[in-house]
Amino acid sequence: MMMSTHSDGNTLGLTKHTPPDVAEMDIRAHDGALYEWEGDVLALGVFEENLTRSEENKFLHPGLAELDYVMGGVLGELADEDDFTGKLGQLSVVRLASSKIKRLALVGLGRANNVMDAVYASDSWRILGFTAARIAKQLKMCSMGLAAMDTNLMDESSKLVAVESIASGAILGTYEDTRFKSEAKPSKLTQVAVMSLGTGSDRDEALRRAVCITAGVIVAKQLVAAPANVLTPGALADAAVSIAMAHSEVLTCTILEKVDCEALGMGAFLGVANGSDQPPKFIHLKYCPPDGVVYKRVAIVGKGICFDSGGYNIKTGANCAVELMKFDMGGAGAALGAASAIGALKPKGVEVHFISAACENMISGKGMRPGDIVTAMNGITIEVNNTDAEGRLTLADSLVYACRLRVDAIVDLATLTGACVVALGHEVGGFFTPSATMAQQLETAAQIAGEKIWRMPLVEQYKQTLESPIADLVNTSGRDGGSIKAALFLKEFVDPGMEWAHLDIAGPVWNRKTGTATGYPVRTLVKWIDQQQIVAGVADS
Ligand code: BES
Ligand code: MN
Ligand code: ZN
Repeated sequence: MMMSTHSDGNTLGLTKHTPPDVAEMDIRAHDGALYEWEGDVLALGVFEENLTRSEENKFLHPGLAELDYVMGGVLGELADEDDFTGKLGQLSVVRLASSKIKRLALVGLGRANNVMDAVYASDSWRILGFTAARIAKQLKMCSMGLAAMDTNLMDESSKLVAVESIASGAILGTYEDTRFKSEAKPSKLTQVAVMSLGTGSDRDEALRRAVCITAGVIVAKQLVAAPANVLTPGALADAAVSIAMAHSEVLTCTILEKVDCEALGMGAFLGVANGSDQPPKFIHLKYCPPDGVVYKRVAIVGKGICFDSGGYNIKTGANCAVELMKFDMGGAGAALGAASAIGALKPKGVEVHFISAACENMISGKGMRPGDIVTAMNGITIEVNNTDAEGRLTLADSLVYACRLRVDAIVDLATLTGACVVALGHEVGGFFTPSATMAQQLETAAQIAGEKIWRMPLVEQYKQTLESPIADLVNTSGRDGGSIKAALFLKEFVDPGMEWAHLDIAGPVWNRKTGTATGYPVRTLVKWIDQQQIVAGVADS
């Protein structure tokens, strides 16, 4: 994916970024006995229960006992020496002398009933693929086999989920963002065999899906992690155009310039954008299925603040994390990541609009002052009593724009409130919707995707706190129930009767431990769009 800076070609700070380094991996489903496989590393997913041993210290599990026997007792030694208990993500590696397999890795899958009994356990399977691929990359391995114990006990649909998730994890495990490093560390892993989960066309399709969706996750990770001096609103718009060009049979991209937004009356968006020297860009990417037959039309709207300084209500204080506010376009990043996946997957029967009002929230003589009144595209006037609540202003115009497309449903995504992080932490996104149908759909999609979301209430009584003495609304009203009030504010810009959900991704967008973007919730979005196909009754058989 290209990310050139828009128009002038100069990046502030002279930073050059090399194209992303994504390994070309050949991932296949493979049959046959594990010990007959030949290659650099065989990674074996093992459940905690598998590791119980007899008084003679032999594995009771017949499959593990057989493998241990064939491999000369090395499995038992490995489990002993590394205190390997099978805890989820635990890793233990040994070099095998005189074997077709150079190294054996044990990867913990946790307790079996958490993985096998659950219909959806994609997270555990993804961790298997990720952990194995990470070590394979570090050890400069070229080929890897992946297998797990007790897969014969799984039903067909669970196996397909496992295949897709393991492959997705393997791709993410070799991925490293070296765009801004002067030296790249490319992965040598080119051959991946997913074993013990069957073969055939359904597996091939699951693997193809994994490749497309994970590429979309990586698009989002890169957009979100790119610093604001590189990923300007113009560069974000360029990225959207590049994604459309990569799938020009099904994607078209329109970029509205500042004058276009003025003509449409997007005063809330332009009010935020005005403090920045970077011109705002309103991104509208449209997916149409190849045969043109459409039963359902949906929109994904992403908050696209390329940098959030807070504006005149500047972000200060130890915990404000202003240096991370490049991730404030995480909603837009996820929308574009999903667009890239959808462009590659080409689902039938559904039209999808990907929308983002991209700009920066900065301070200057032209910046919005606290107390200013802006007018949104639908005529609603907003007293901006806090310039740091800018996301809901740009989303207001984006939502009105999406409603005017007369779509059947809208999902918006936004790094909207610190309050949502306080409520749910960094692992869980909070979603709001008046619709039981949407709630059910999103919960199912997130569960299959292995991304955590939690429904939050739209408490109608809190709406009165958004009343302004001088305009139609204020944009903030106190810290209590902050994520709910933000959602209620957005609701004012959604047509009554429109199927709509708002997902606050302020917590899960960024992994503070690794200092990387997560790509959340691209997988959930793709699954949700898939469900629209099923709703329309045109899912591929
Ligand atoms: N982008 C922030 C939300 C945010 C904060 C995301 C911390 C991730 C971590 C948003 O624009 C913002 O500043 N929200 C304010 C709203 C407040 C002024 C009502 C917040 O959450 O503090
Ligand atoms: Mn803000
Ligand atoms: Zn923000």
